[in-house]
Amino acid sequence: MPATYKILQSADHADSFNNRDAFALDVLVGLSSMPKSISSKYFYDQRGSELFRQISLLPEYYLTERELEIIEHHWSTVAAAAGREPFNLVELGAGFSQKSLLFLEHFAKAGLAFRYVPIDISESAMAGLVESLGERFPHLEVNGLVTDYFNGLKWLNRRHRRRNLVLFLGSSIGNFNHTRACFFLRSLWNALNHDDVVLIGFDMKKDIDLLLRAYNDSEGVTREFNLNLLCRINGELGGNFDLSKFRHFGTYNVSSGAMESYLVSQERQMVFIEAIGRSFLFEPWEPLHTEYSYKYLASDIDRLAEETGFEVKQHLYDSRNYFADSVWRVQKVGSGELASRDRSLTAKAG
Ligand SMILES: C[S@@+](CC[C@H](N)C(=O)[O-])C[C@H]1O[C@@H](n2cnc3c(N)ncnc32)[C@H](O)[C@@H]1O
Repeated sequence: MPATYKILQSADHADSFNNRDAFALDVLVGLSSMPKSISSKYFYDQRGSELFRQISLLPEYYLTERELEIIEHHWSTVAAAAGREPFNLVELGAGFSQKSLLFLEHFAKAGLAFRYVPIDISESAMAGLVESLGERFPHLEVNGLVTDYFNGLKWLNRRHRRRNLVLFLGSSIGNFNHTRACFFLRSLWNALNHDDVVLIGFDMKKDIDLLLRAYNDSEGVTREFNLNLLCRINGELGGNFDLSKFRHFGTYNVSSGAMESYLVSQERQMVFIEAIGRSFLFEPWEPLHTEYSYKYLASDIDRLAEETGFEVKQHLYDSRNYFADSVWRVQKVGSGELASRDRSLTAKAG
């Protein structure tokens, strides 16, 4: 028999490697690493999405109010960037937020022709969003996708007929460090066409006390949100985390410019996870890193756009300059020189 090979397509392995297996594998890698860490994308089960909705309404969590103000004042600038032809309004990590509804309301009132494509990893957030859209905008075409950003981008890649206007709000870009942000943005660039438009929310660098209060709210909702990750491992992977033995810790790293969230083990303890079939040792005061929320200067935003093939059209600020929604346009003409950077970005982020 001659030796042969087969290029595996996603359909070949989709059923054998499901979301629970992927979660278990990431938890195994994260808890075996030093320092321990688990990706913030696992916050968003049903309870996590509801807790984030509550956080977004807290007065200390200024990000929501500030970004809503930007959308209220500048939605028509964003609409103008999309042009007059029918377009796809794609939203990455849409969640179930007032901000999407505000855009949709203004765009619908202005008589714009668009199809809305929210993409989110959380099924419960998507179900809530789609239900409320059906009631409020019965004539709007909505094609929600429950998947992660990168599979969502693959979906986008296959739709080339209309201009895309992509929203990535709430400073979710801040969950990535610089290398990963470049990898994500370059993947987005690859999935889009020349002249497509992207609107990205960036939380600006500001007084450290304001930042600390936003991620350590007085009602303890952020604490619940962070600890819910352990509940999720207990419920979905058969873990035996004792939540009372971990504390939430949110701190600002002045060197990297990121708010960092941790769960800190308050004593020496072993935790067993059935789906992985092994135990993990936590030393006293050992941290488990759960989230980055990087903060930016305008020059950081310009650099990110330049490094990944976008042209910055405008930074739209709120009246306190706490937050910026930055309007970018995809540049694919004369971008040959960027192509060689793709390989090094892929290698670094891998
Ligand atoms: C911080 S919330 C922001 C929600 C909303 N865009 C806003 O601005 O209020 C992040 C949202 O992104 C979703 N999400 C997080 N990681 C994701 C990933 N890797 N792929 C797709 N969605 C993700 C979460 O389910 C959640 O709804």
